Amino acid sequence: MTSTGSRSWFYIAFFVGAVGAAAVGMVVLISTGVLEPTVAPIPQAPVVAQLELPAPRPQGYVGSDACLECHQDVAEAYATNPMRVQVLQ
Ligand code: HEC
Repeated sequence: MTSTGSRSWFYIAFFVGAVGAAAVGMVVLISTGVLEPTVAPIPQAPVVAQLELPAPRPQGYVGSDACLECHQDVAEAYATNPMRVQVLQ
């Protein structure tokens, strides 16, 4: 083995040791509460925040009217589908 080869093993061992020490350090800092991992709050979509729901039906369903504003094509297609009878009437 050449001297260059043994030196490269030293660099690899040093790199692996440094990364391992950094990982252990992060775990210690987070587990002791010194570092707090922060998660940014997810902002609510403005279109949902503005949504006004129609009065719920007696069974608790809002009905297709609630979907019409944004899903007009789906609501119109569903109006002629026999399955609508189960939920809407
Ligand atoms: C304020 C607008 C709005 C209203 C009112 C609304 N939706 Fe949606 N809906 C959306 C948007 C925008 C998407 C697409 C979201 C995405 O792809 O990330 C969506 C997606 C969907 C999907 C998924 C479609 C797919 O192909 O993945 C379904 C199912 C759905 N809506 C059903 C409904 C139903 C049922 C109602 C009524 C109770 C309703 N929506 C009311 C805006 C609305």
